[in-house]
Amino acid sequence: MNQRVHGGRLEQIKQSFPSIAEEWIDLSTGISPRSYPIVELPPECFSRLPEHYRELEQAAQNYYRIHTLTAVPGSQAAIKVLPKVFQHLIKSHAVYCPAIGYQEHAWAWQDAGFDVRRYQKWGSLLKDSHSKIVVLINPNNPSTETIDIKQIQSLANQISNSNGYLIIDEAFADCMMHDETDAWSSMTNVIRLKSLGKFFGLAGLRVGFVAAAPKILQRISDCIGPWAIAGPSAYSATRALQDKLWQQQQRAHLEQQSLRLQQLLQQHYQVEVRRLPLFCYFEHKAAQQQWQQLCKLGVYVRLCDDHQALRFGLPAQHQFGLLRQRLGQLNDVTLSSRTV
Ligand SMILES: Cc1ncc(COP(=O)(O)O)c(C=O)c1O
Repeated sequence: MNQRVHGGRLEQIKQSFPSIAEEWIDLSTGISPRSYPIVELPPECFSRLPEHYRELEQAAQNYYRIHTLTAVPGSQAAIKVLPKVFQHLIKSHAVYCPAIGYQEHAWAWQDAGFDVRRYQKWGSLLKDSHSKIVVLINPNNPSTETIDIKQIQSLANQISNSNGYLIIDEAFADCMMHDETDAWSSMTNVIRLKSLGKFFGLAGLRVGFVAAAPKILQRISDCIGPWAIAGPSAYSATRALQDKLWQQQQRAHLEQQSLRLQQLLQQHYQVEVRRLPLFCYFEHKAAQQQWQQLCKLGVYVRLCDDHQALRFGLPAQHQFGLLRQRLGQLNDVTLSSRTV
């Protein structure tokens, strides 16, 4: 059985490294350490059933510049129900998922009995013309690979010719939104997933969105059922999506912090460090050993699934100094472990 591992399991990691007494620096996720400040909640959020998500969806339509979308309890919930939505919609059972990327996509389709095929480069998908479902993660977590709108259009057109569908996970796309409304609205076979967890740092709210043709949105809502998003979450998410000033500050802040992290990592590892506003990523021959060494210093990062790369989430502003200090010790530890 394959073990389904994610970042964010700090308690478990602490148990594996019980000798670490100092404060852990948890960089194992791509969630912003600077979160949208939650406002006071009106009592009705708790006392009434969240019957309509009209205000929330309207705020999301404005923020994402998308007309047809529906709110879901985290994009993960949509990932899990999409195979059910497509079971009666498409003849082909072939689903193409990226070899490197958030594995929940492949697992969800596999669990539902679809034939999951992994692709290394999305360009290879243009070559075959079978009816299929393709999952893109754009930008990719963890590899940072990004695909532009023109390339997406070619892929969507090609897939549409064979009555297929393109699912695009845009959980990390908040810092690369451009006004491409017309281009998107011409792609009727595309399903886009959005998350409030990453850019807004509100992973605990469990709020996300799906943008797609109305018939697909209806099926998703039917599969998820009523009242899926708790009242306090819907209220808080609406405020976050409406707050343009905070979003602008957040974009600038993440850009600055990820650049700072990239420079810091570049100083310590002699490899190319790639970055997105929410994390840095690099391949390393001894990634697993490096991961262990970091844990021994109380720095918890993500060892990528192929054990060939590390992903560092952004530290909180006050943790940069400590991280720099611990990375400085890393060289000594690695050196001494080599000479033993
Ligand atoms: C690429 C990607 N998509 C989607 C998700 C699910 O996020 P959420 O359910 O919080 O929206 C994650 C979570 O880590 C992710 O990395």
